[in-house]
Amino acid sequence: MIKNVVGMYFSPSGATAKITKKITIELTDNMRDSCLDDLSYSFYDMLCLSERHGINTSIDCTDETIVVMGLPVMSGRIPEICKEMLSKVNGNGAYLIALVSYGNNSYGDALYELYTYANERGFNVISAAAFIAQHSMFPKVAESRPDANDIKKMIEFSRISAKKLKRFVCTDISSMRGRLAPLMIPGSIPKRKPMKLPIHPTANSLCISCGKCKEVCPVGAISTDDLRKSDPKECISCTSCIKACPQDARGFYGSLARATRIAREKLHFKRKDPEWFI
Ligand SMILES: Cc1cc2nc3c(=O)[nH]c(=O)nc-3n(C[C@H](O)[C@H](O)[C@H](O)COP(=O)(O)O)c2cc1C
Repeated sequence: MIKNVVGMYFSPSGATAKITKKITIELTDNMRDSCLDDLSYSFYDMLCLSERHGINTSIDCTDETIVVMGLPVMSGRIPEICKEMLSKVNGNGAYLIALVSYGNNSYGDALYELYTYANERGFNVISAAAFIAQHSMFPKVAESRPDANDIKKMIEFSRISAKKLKRFVCTDISSMRGRLAPLMIPGSIPKRKPMKLPIHPTANSLCISCGKCKEVCPVGAISTDDLRKSDPKECISCTSCIKACPQDARGFYGSLARATRIAREKLHFKRKDPEWFI
């Protein structure tokens, strides 16, 4: 018997969390409308699974849980660190809804990667979707996304995912677990590691060395010795330090960052719409 829905996400700048939470809530409401009156939901920040955040834990899901998992797209892939996090999550046959959020360029191989890894971790993937959000590195790209239209699509995607789930969980066909037809998600698992961008956040003179940036960095790229810099070898440019800075001191500064921003703003202005696979 399904008892709860867990929205799990890695979300350096907050958009993936927002999308995952909305879909978790909508899905729970839709499931409550049918056979599962007492269904509850909760959220889980996958940053807790990062070794650098000290909680050396793993998660064992059960067949009483539906997981909604959201990851951000970085260079057309899921971030390398998410693979480390995913290796600590055991599906044990739980149902999963796979989500990626991307900045109006392309979600590349990311949704396919998430789908493949989730299957490998023992989940039964019910559906998968790619939603658009403001680009975390270049905020003028997809500036107001997700907007009202995107929210409508999230509601629609939740409703049809719930409809499919009900066929499995509201009838006595538990033997159907593991017999889901494959989802036709475009992409492949590239052999090479995801490309890292050569631009990294630094802090300007507004920095008060409070260390918030170091606390939130998922890859340990900021050292107490020099809080204003990010180690280019470690930094994945994810923007979590920029979002966390209470002084608004951190950003992508310098001529390369400026030129890249201008180019991306010109390239990725044409509106993309959410896509899903059921
Ligand atoms: C390092 C980096 C690489 C990115 N690469 C892509 C990309 O290849 N395609 C795209 O459309 N958006 C890309 N984005 C934008 C993010 O996918 C998008 O802003 C996402 O919603 C961020 O999620 P978050 O707010 O949960 O961190 C990238 C962002 C970062 C920080």
